Amino acid sequence: MVQTDAPRVLIVDDDEQVRLLLAEGLRGHGYRCELVGSADAAERRLAAGPWDLVVCDLEAHPESGLSFLADTRRRYPKLPVVMVSGVTDVATATTALQLGASGYITKPFEEHHVLIAADNALHRARLEAENDSYRALLEQMVRERTVALRATVERLEEREAQLRMSSEDTVKALARAIEGRDVETGLHIERMSRYTALLAGYYGFSEADCELLRIAAPMHDVGKIGVPDGILFKPGALSVAEYDVIKQHPELGYEILAKSEQPLLVLAATIARTHHERWDGNGYPHGLAGDAIPIEGRIAAVADVFDAVISRRCYKPAYSLERTLQVMTDGRGTSFDGAIVELLLDHIDEVMAIQEQYPDED
Ligand SMILES: [Fe+2]
Ligand SMILES: [Fe+2]
Repeated sequence: MVQTDAPRVLIVDDDEQVRLLLAEGLRGHGYRCELVGSADAAERRLAAGPWDLVVCDLEAHPESGLSFLADTRRRYPKLPVVMVSGVTDVATATTALQLGASGYITKPFEEHHVLIAADNALHRARLEAENDSYRALLEQMVRERTVALRATVERLEEREAQLRMSSEDTVKALARAIEGRDVETGLHIERMSRYTALLAGYYGFSEADCELLRIAAPMHDVGKIGVPDGILFKPGALSVAEYDVIKQHPELGYEILAKSEQPLLVLAATIARTHHERWDGNGYPHGLAGDAIPIEGRIAAVADVFDAVISRRCYKPAYSLERTLQVMTDGRGTSFDGAIVELLLDHIDEVMAIQEQYPDED
């Protein structure tokens, strides 16, 4: 009895005797065979598949045998085809194999030749199918992992953005608390930190470092929290002793901020400590000069003073742009790092755009 899961073979042969001979051998070994006598009939039967194997012999029309082979391989790439032929020339056999025949039997053949060729063809097709499904499984796994990885990256980015926002909010809250105790008013810290980031970008800082600077710079005067109101808000001129107290705010700010190893706060501590140092060494609190002043402090100093000069303060009116730039230019090599002042002058349009975007309220 033929099993229903036995391989299903379509035998295509224009010679009825050979057709029957092929089928007899295969059926004797459990194959289910159907027999057709032409390529046209074979095509119709193939369309009503599925089939496990085609054994094809078109002795009378070798040309159409090869084109049937090519056609079948194209339409059913996973279906193995074994060619049977009386043609013994090597060229035809080679062409058949190149066109994708899984085996080639020459006549006259013995039953076992047919069985070996059929078994081999089926075995190879099974291996190829296993290979295909293994590859599909791997591809599926890679796709799933990629999706999972992408989701993780997105989650991390989201969390990082949230953290950055909360750090920025904390910094701004702290800066606002100081602002209430300061003669510097309104949006000074917003403008100053944006000039700082802008100039740092032109100096060569990466985008990420500029962003960190923009968030850290608002804390430059945090140390003023330790300066008594009587001194901070004194309307007239300060005594030397009072000015000495004011001059403690960079170091005080540094001490407040330097308790953390977080890059943002390390940077903020550096700016707080060095934004009143001068290029010529006559600044405070440490009298650092030239390159000994960290570049972040040198940039913040230019940004801070520029905004103080061009804005109205309780002790002075707002200076014109021309006069402000004169102050900055005069400070090259004395108050300021000349290279930073050059950057300010070169990009004054962008600096002024920030100034106009964040105007002080009256
Ligand atoms: Fe300051
Ligand atoms: Fe300031």
